[in-house]
Amino acid sequence: LLVSVLALAKTYTVGTSADFPPFEYIENGQFVGFDMDLIREIAKIAGFEVKFVDMSFDSLIPALRAGQIDIAIAGMTITEERKQVVDFSIPYWTADQSVIVKADSNLSITVLFGKYRIGVQTGTTGDLWCTEELVKKGILPEKNLKRYDTFVLALTDLLNGNIDAIVLDSPVANRFAATKPVKIVGIIVTGEQYGIAVKKGNTDLLKAINEALKVLQETGKLAELIDKYF
Ligand code: ARG
Repeated sequence: LLVSVLALAKTYTVGTSADFPPFEYIENGQFVGFDMDLIREIAKIAGFEVKFVDMSFDSLIPALRAGQIDIAIAGMTITEERKQVVDFSIPYWTADQSVIVKADSNLSITVLFGKYRIGVQTGTTGDLWCTEELVKKGILPEKNLKRYDTFVLALTDLLNGNIDAIVLDSPVANRFAATKPVKIVGIIVTGEQYGIAVKKGNTDLLKAINEALKVLQETGKLAELIDKYF
């Protein structure tokens, strides 16, 4: 019976942008990280299988809307704008934005306020913040805001001296500061919350995800995952 039940289990395609440790990254060709384990645990409880696809962060919402993926989990902040076009689970994480520079640099948070080149991942809340608060207010020339498909590319450019700073989510900045020659010079308190996104109106799947999230909270499994990655 178990075998036949498993054979019937539906497979959902899960989109992510695997450049965001410790939430999602690739190690030995595998999708690993907090989000990857989280959705695997949710799938176990809800009784579906997952298949991961990696894409640029700004492709995730269009892919959901087009039905190319069923679920997006990518440290994705729940925003009013995104809520117009996709549905989000209950929040599972809270983060701010951080500013990182090369470890041997003597730049400070004022790196944001002038002639320096700032890197962001296209379409992220870091991109949005820099666009709204710096570029549109005339603090940072548009040409000094460099948008990247992935944080891996932004980090490479930072280390090569092609940009001077990166604005990114604080937990990921912390991880980069601990593992790469970069340091944090400032925090922008945004208090954003991460959610798992599904196509608008996919209420059955959303309900299953939310229920599983609650089970993971109550059983302590979520705390276990946090311990594993943070
Ligand atoms: N939390 C930010 C946002 O939603 C950044 C997420 C980037 N995620 C990623 N996997 N690269 O815009």
